[in-house]
Amino acid sequence: MHGRRLRRLSRRPGQSSRCAAFIATVLLAILRPVPHGVRRIHRQRSTSHFSKDISMTLTIVGYGNVGSGLAKQFVKAGHSVTLTGRSLDKAQAVAEAVGAKALPMAEAAKNVEVVVLAVPYDQAPAALAALGDLKGKVIVDVSNPLTADYMGLTVGFSTSAAEEIAKAAPTAYIVKAFNTLFAQVMHQGAGFGDAKGSVFFAGDEPKAKDTVKALIESIGFDAVDAGGLKNARYLEPVAGLNIYFGYGAGLGTQIAPAWLKR
Ligand SMILES: NC(=O)c1ccc[n+]([C@@H]2O[C@H](COP(=O)([O-])OP(=O)(O)OC[C@H]3O[C@@H](n4cnc5c(N)ncnc54)[C@H](OP(=O)(O)O)[C@@H]3O)[C@@H](O)[C@H]2O)c1
Repeated sequence: MHGRRLRRLSRRPGQSSRCAAFIATVLLAILRPVPHGVRRIHRQRSTSHFSKDISMTLTIVGYGNVGSGLAKQFVKAGHSVTLTGRSLDKAQAVAEAVGAKALPMAEAAKNVEVVVLAVPYDQAPAALAALGDLKGKVIVDVSNPLTADYMGLTVGFSTSAAEEIAKAAPTAYIVKAFNTLFAQVMHQGAGFGDAKGSVFFAGDEPKAKDTVKALIESIGFDAVDAGGLKNARYLEPVAGLNIYFGYGAGLGTQIAPAWLKR
C-alpha cells in the first residue's frame, strides 16, 4: 500500500527527488546516534515546537525558582523528573504542581542519568554529599556565585563555581549550563517570538556534554557549546551581565542572551 503510493508519487514530475530526499531524511533520523544516557521517545506528546524527540531520567536538587522552572519544562518535554531537597514535603508540593515525583536526597540520584544542581553555590558541597555516590553521573551546575547584593561574583579569573563544584564531586561529570537564564525565563519557556534563547554549556567530558546539549534542546533552547569546564569562568560573568540588564538597566527578567552566527 505504502509502496504503491510512493511509486505513484514518484511518477509525478518533480516528486521523485522530493520522495527520495524525504526517505533519506527519515532514515538519517532513525540511524543518527543518540547521545549518552538518552532514550528516544516512541510516543506522541504535546511539547513546544522546538522540542527534540528524546527522554531522560533526571533529578533536580532544589525546588526553588530554578528547580521548579526547569522541572516544569523538563516534564513538558517528556522527561522523567524527580525533585529532591532538604524538605521532602516541599519537594513533594512542587513535584505535584509540575507533574514530577519527589524522593529524599539519599534516594534521588540512585537511578538517574542526570542530576541538576539547583541550589545556592555555597550549598553545593552539602547537597552533593547528601546525594551519596555520584560516580559517572552527569551533574548540571546552574549556579552563579553571587555576592550578597547580587551585583558581583565571589569567584572568578582563576577559578569558577563550576570548577569548585567539580572538586566536590570528582567521580561525576560536571557540565555548566542554564546559569545565564533568569528563572522566570525557565518558567516561561524558550520562545521569544520567532527567536529562542541560548543556553551555553561547558564541560570536559564530551558524552556528558552531548547529554546536556540534548536536554537543553529538548526544552527548546539553542544549545551553544562553550568549551571546557574552565570556560565557566566566562559564563558566570555573563550571568552577572544578565542580572545587570534585568535589574540594573531595568529590562526586567524576560530577557535572555542569544549567540548569533551566519
Ligand atoms: N533565580 C535565578 O534567576 C537564577 C538564574 C540562574 C541561575 N541561578 C542559580 O540557581 C541556583 C538556585 O537559585 P534559585 O533562585 O532557584 O534559589 P532558591 O529559589 O532560593 O532555591 C534554592 C533551593 O535550594 C535548596 N537548598 C538550599 N540548600 C540546600 C542543600 N544544602 N541541600 C539541598 N537543597 C538545598 C532550597 O531548599 P531549602 O532551603 O528548603 O532546603 C531551595 O529549594 C543558585 O545557584 C543560583 O545562583 C538562579
